Amino acid sequence: MNRDIRTINSMINSLTKQFLCCTALIKIDFIVLKEYKTYDLKLDIQKQILNNTIDNDLIKRYPIKTSYQKAFLKLLMQKIEEGGNEIHDDLYAAYCRLISLSDEESVHYRHFLIQNGTLNCITLKESTNLISQGTTGLCSWQGAIVLSQWCAENKEQFCGKNILELGCGVGLTGMNVISICSPKQYIFSDCHPTVLNMLCENVKLNFVSNKQSDLLNTSDMTSKLQLQLKYKQIDVQVIDLKWENIDEYILENSLQPDIIIAADILYDSNSFGALTLGLKRLLASNNYAIFAATIRNEDTVSQFLEHLENYDLAFEECSLPRWATSIELIYAPVRILKIFQKI
Ligand SMILES: C[S@@+](CC[C@H](N)C(=O)[O-])C[C@H]1O[C@@H](n2cnc3c(N)ncnc32)[C@H](O)[C@@H]1O
Repeated sequence: MNRDIRTINSMINSLTKQFLCCTALIKIDFIVLKEYKTYDLKLDIQKQILNNTIDNDLIKRYPIKTSYQKAFLKLLMQKIEEGGNEIHDDLYAAYCRLISLSDEESVHYRHFLIQNGTLNCITLKESTNLISQGTTGLCSWQGAIVLSQWCAENKEQFCGKNILELGCGVGLTGMNVISICSPKQYIFSDCHPTVLNMLCENVKLNFVSNKQSDLLNTSDMTSKLQLQLKYKQIDVQVIDLKWENIDEYILENSLQPDIIIAADILYDSNSFGALTLGLKRLLASNNYAIFAATIRNEDTVSQFLEHLENYDLAFEECSLPRWATSIELIYAPVRILKIFQKI
């Protein structure tokens, strides 16, 4: 393949990946585009971008919010004009179709492509707002993307293991771990009823239609167990677990995870007491936790680390994954912490 075709394909793949998970437009990486002969977006390339993004079958079936699609197309047309190229008629037609649609959806879909040699695509139903119905859990956060990529790059740690995720939200990290890392068991947990409902929908959307999964009989489920299925021999569970109730849950269910994971749950210092106490109960000499935390406020994370110290828990910093899409408007660094019992 000659260099130009490779550059164009890589530019189109990069744009597609960013579009599908609704990367903040200001963060969309048009650099590759610039490299490609300063925006020389000829008609055939425009058509390919349209086919891979707005006209993608995945988007037709599971649409991302209309306002985002409109804004993306507008930005693309602007870049095309900046490069002195004429705009393909199909782009105008797509734009006209989009502006005729209402853009007040409260839920939509996002599609996350996680790199692991091949691309793994997870489709999630989410709220269109970061905070809705009094919870932060109805959409995926930056930490979940970084943790997904970290787990993919360290998949040997998860292979054949029992994993518990705390405050999993709509399920991005867990879906990736299940798809890529072949654990023995994966337990998603959260405590908000609407989050749990959306999470169950997402687990079914990604794993149940697939012939390799079986929904298990739900008649003997305790009130804590919301969903259980087998996917490629992996025991997948969704449980209603408040950090405040971890102790009680362990006693009733003899829970012994090999690895506890969590993304972006370190934002409310009022919850750190219950969270650290729960972690203390879950951690033994032979297991550990991996937390990804987007650092919006250094003090908040410092307070969590003090709690760890008070409960005799230790932590070490892990290196960040080599690659992860940034979906957020504002740049905030992410830290990955390995937490374990002090010896
Ligand atoms: C910012 S969201 C992160 C969701 C997901 N981990 C992600 O990164 O996309 C925090 C999640 O923690 C959950 N959560 C907050 N307090 C909790 C508690 N005390 N017990 C269990 N889950 C809790 C919320 O319901 C929410 O889903």
